[in-house]
Amino acid sequence: MDLNGARILVVGATGVLGQRLCERLGEHTTEIVVTGRSAADAERLRDRLGLRAAHALDLVDHDQAAAVVRTAAEELGGFDAVLVATGVAAFGPAAEEDEAVVEELFEVNALGPMAVLRAALPHLADGGAVAVLTGVVAELPVAGMAAYAASKAAMASWLGSLRRELRRRRIAVVDARLPHMDTGLVDRALAGPPPTLPPGHNIDDAVAAVELGLEHGVREVRLD
Ligand SMILES: NC(=O)c1ccc[n+]([C@@H]2O[C@H](COP(=O)([O-])OP(=O)(O)OC[C@H]3O[C@@H](n4cnc5c(N)ncnc54)[C@H](OP(=O)(O)O)[C@@H]3O)[C@@H](O)[C@H]2O)c1
Repeated sequence: MDLNGARILVVGATGVLGQRLCERLGEHTTEIVVTGRSAADAERLRDRLGLRAAHALDLVDHDQAAAVVRTAAEELGGFDAVLVATGVAAFGPAAEEDEAVVEELFEVNALGPMAVLRAALPHLADGGAVAVLTGVVAELPVAGMAAYAASKAAMASWLGSLRRELRRRRIAVVDARLPHMDTGLVDRALAGPPPTLPPGHNIDDAVAAVELGLEHGVREVRLD
């Protein structure tokens, strides 16, 4: 898809990767609506980059998510692309995972993004694209992050089915299977100290790869 002048919804725009992606996309278009849990943070980003609009959106509330997506679709007159950059991690042995933490992982990493995309699809132009930041953990089980990996795997599986279903509308479904980067995500985990992780991959490389993936409608974005 052509990113120049494209109408894009970015959910989770206030995170580290979300902001960097908005900066890159903002070089092609200012027809971008951003969301974050904090309206003030989202508005600051909108003002800094001169974007179209900003809204508060907590993915745990699916009704609110659908309402925000509808509002964004009205503001932009439909979407050419939707990018979901929300996510949360948690660490610890599978046998000791807290139920509430597991539920929140699935809400933020899988059920919420699914609700956003369901609400967005009727407004998405044929030939457009959706992209979700999943992670290599979706396909590579790692000890100490079972529910986090399972929530990402659930999202990746759902995207795989969606891709087949949207083929006729020529809508690309981009699954960004990113490796570990030092964005601070692991320090904001809902539970547990992170296991020892390898040095983080370069954030600029990841952001550029996602932008390219969106532009070319690739199935998966990988850094290796
Ligand atoms: N960093 C990595 O190593 C890495 C590797 C692979 C994949 N990823 C994925 O990339 C995505 C972005 O991660 P990041 O590194 O940029 O981390 P981040 O800076 O912590 O960003 C996480 C984003 O998720 C949002 N979020 C958390 N809980 C939410 C909720 N209940 N409702 C709505 N939004 C919520 C945060 O919103 P607020 O800004 O309002 O807090 C923030 O925008 C995540 O899906 C992550 O799993 C990251």
